[in-house]
Amino acid sequence: MAYFIIKGGKKLKGEIKISGAKNAALKILPAAILSSTPSTISNVPRIIDIVKMVEILRSIGTDITFENGVVKIDPSHITSSHPDEKLIKKLRGSIVLVGALLSKFGSAIISQPGGCLIGARPIDDHLDVFRQLGVKIKYNNGRYYLKGKPEAGEVTLSKMSVTATENAILASVLSRGTTRIHVAAAEPEIKDLADYLNKMGARISGAGTHDITIEGVQTLKGVEYSVMPDRIEAGTYLTIGVVTNSELTIGPVEISTLSIVLKKLEDVGAKFEVIHKNGADFIQTQTRGKLKAADIDTRTYPGFPTDLQSFYAVLMTQAEGRSRIFETIFEGRFSSIEELQLLRAKTLVLNPHEFVVDGPTKLIGTRISSKDIRGGASLVAAALTANGTTTIEDIEYIDRGYENIDTKLKAVGAEIERVGLIEE
Ligand code: UD1
Repeated sequence: MAYFIIKGGKKLKGEIKISGAKNAALKILPAAILSSTPSTISNVPRIIDIVKMVEILRSIGTDITFENGVVKIDPSHITSSHPDEKLIKKLRGSIVLVGALLSKFGSAIISQPGGCLIGARPIDDHLDVFRQLGVKIKYNNGRYYLKGKPEAGEVTLSKMSVTATENAILASVLSRGTTRIHVAAAEPEIKDLADYLNKMGARISGAGTHDITIEGVQTLKGVEYSVMPDRIEAGTYLTIGVVTNSELTIGPVEISTLSIVLKKLEDVGAKFEVIHKNGADFIQTQTRGKLKAADIDTRTYPGFPTDLQSFYAVLMTQAEGRSRIFETIFEGRFSSIEELQLLRAKTLVLNPHEFVVDGPTKLIGTRISSKDIRGGASLVAAALTANGTTTIEDIEYIDRGYENIDTKLKAVGAEIERVGLIEE
């Protein structure tokens, strides 16, 4: 078991480099199997979830290397449409492999994927998408057996699910004819996946909106592609900069993907500036005055991201007044809230979708533990804010989604030590 020991209450200063987006890379890697020639994907974060995806792709016969942020994928020897079940169970994002396998082989076998414990995370919407594309699905003894090449046509999602939208895209790029996806999720990572596929020769338009059109093509070719910067990682360090009242330069970022986050931070009293250097955008947090409380609702993009809800809660522990946080996407995604209480934050869970935070409170370091990627990383933000020493256990959750979080924070002056080793 590995843990962090963090001495909080210090101001930080310097630059934090943002890695490639986890939720884009996790879909671009399986998309690469749709061609029969190799792709080279750069700016891939070395995090546990990506390492697991690499292993899953290896388990179906993909030749794949991952060095210095570059993944080379040669799909020419893939033989199986049945990825390793133990690995699938460890990674919820692995569900997107199903769409790619159906496109490639017209069949897939998959068990219920695992992942973070953040409320009910079923796969019914994925199965519904495949059924609408003419795929036959049987369930037996914990496994789904999917059969049939997806047929082009109209697909309407029953809600805006990110990975179900990506599965609909992956399942349709090689179909004969035109597929239209309605009520699609519009997250920027979906557009990044579509940009990669289009570079390979796919014909996808409208990705990043709620209506996506795919003209099926016969073949795709392997290409070089660089993954977009991670807007959630940027939001993480942005919150850390603001809550600890530090001067951090954070980037590269795609500013347009952070609109609502920057707006909400500004509304509560954060001070920052957007600067341009080396052809990219960066955000500089600046010394601020008092923070004031304000409510948020999490929403699908372009609304406030559910992945930053727990960070906003940490920020609100330092703001004057009561803030109400309404989590509309997931049920019970509050694992970090009880841990915040151990740090003496004044929080109250009203129901599985809502909680309030009263502030400002002096947080005091103690022993806490992480239960999911984002909740866990938000506890790092809280520990850096707290007086005294905080021990955060179970940091493998944090390592699932954050590349070198401790090294990046140390470089800007944080007192954070990693103890113990994690199996990738
Ligand atoms: C993706 C992201 C995750 C982010 C989430 C919301 C990846 C790998 N993960 O997760 O980091 O927090 O989007 O932005 O990209 N649902 C169903 N049935 C389904 C699928 C989803 O009911 O078959 C529900 C979920 O329980 C949730 C809602 O739909 O309440 C939206 O979830 P979804 O957008 O699918 O999240 P993920 O794609 O799993």
